[in-house]
Amino acid sequence: MADRIVLAYSGGLDTSVAVAWLTEKMSAEVVAVTVDVGQGGEDLDVVRQRALACGAAETVVVDVRDQYAERYCMPALLANGLYMDRYPLISALSRPLIAEHLIQVARRTGAGTLAHGCTGKGNDQARFEISLAALGDEMEIIAPTRDTPISRDFAIGFAAERGLPIEASRRSPYSIDQNMWGRTIEAGPLEDTWAAPMPDIWNYTRDPDPAAEPDEVTITFEAGLPTALDDRPVTPREAIEQLNVRAGRHGVGRLDMMEDRLVGIKTRECYEAPGAITLITAHRELESLTLEKELLRYKRGVDQRWAELVYDGLWFSPLKGCLDDFVAGANRVVTGRVRLRLHAGQAVVVGRDGEGSLYDLSLASYGAEDRFDQSQARGFLALWGLPTRLAARRDARLKS
Ligand code: ARG
Repeated sequence: MADRIVLAYSGGLDTSVAVAWLTEKMSAEVVAVTVDVGQGGEDLDVVRQRALACGAAETVVVDVRDQYAERYCMPALLANGLYMDRYPLISALSRPLIAEHLIQVARRTGAGTLAHGCTGKGNDQARFEISLAALGDEMEIIAPTRDTPISRDFAIGFAAERGLPIEASRRSPYSIDQNMWGRTIEAGPLEDTWAAPMPDIWNYTRDPDPAAEPDEVTITFEAGLPTALDDRPVTPREAIEQLNVRAGRHGVGRLDMMEDRLVGIKTRECYEAPGAITLITAHRELESLTLEKELLRYKRGVDQRWAELVYDGLWFSPLKGCLDDFVAGANRVVTGRVRLRLHAGQAVVVGRDGEGSLYDLSLASYGAEDRFDQSQARGFLALWGLPTRLAARRDARLKS
């Protein structure tokens, strides 16, 4: 019996050629697995048909949009997950969940080998393979695009010779990955770091328009998670999807940045993540209102470390797991609401309040409500500044 290989299948050129190549050259039965993480675009039934036309023995399409929102995007929101302070980890979040489903299908269909279409230069190979190793150590992994001589030109020729139905995927000069947390665009004309982003790269966002009427949205959070938009209850997935539309209309969440990849390469990346950026902006603001000073300061460092671990493919690592516990613990009191104005490419916080607030008007006010006892400041500063005062005295002594 031929070996069974479970392949993460996107429907694009590389994975379509991989189906045919694994079937033909490795005499394998390919099970093509397409995971719906809210990438939109092509109908997944068309994608499934393409896999069959390329020679897949079996196809599986799984809709994991709610799981993705709840188990991946929400933990990222609690950690304000932004790599290099900017990138909301779009691709880094989806790969571990796709890996979970590859393993499930492999166990169900009796396959011993898993395959993905990543190249050897990117981060996604790490996210797939480390996740797969953590979840299914017994499985073999192969990456035809990386581990075999299938270059892009070879792939195009191979597909043409066999009449594989993948014309559409050859049109874009960019490398694109998308899911409900955002869209990534790289390569092609963007490799010139001096060239401004081409106007045709955007899809989740409209061009920011200062003349447009601003949209105001109130996001309610309970323990750090969005539960209502403008007082209408939403699930995590609905919050993301609705904010993608509303913030996307105002061009919110576009990014153009240089990025440090795991393999050491610097790369130029463009992103659009209207919902994610709006949610993170609001969530960070609510943390500033509700988290005690030392916890808030400490958490910013944890947030950064969390994003680095996830970016570097370590979703299932012990440190990331422990940081998740810390992040969720800190978020227990992050309850309240944030009002944002979506306009001209920005999501600007204009109001915040709520149950978890540490804001005390009788302490903060300069008005009639003021109950702050200013007489305590003098003694406090004498002690707070003591180490600096001692050091300054010493320095003066050494100079003289
Ligand atoms: N640079 C981003 C990251 O590492 C985007 C990767 C996009 N992946 C892709 N196969 N086009 O997460």
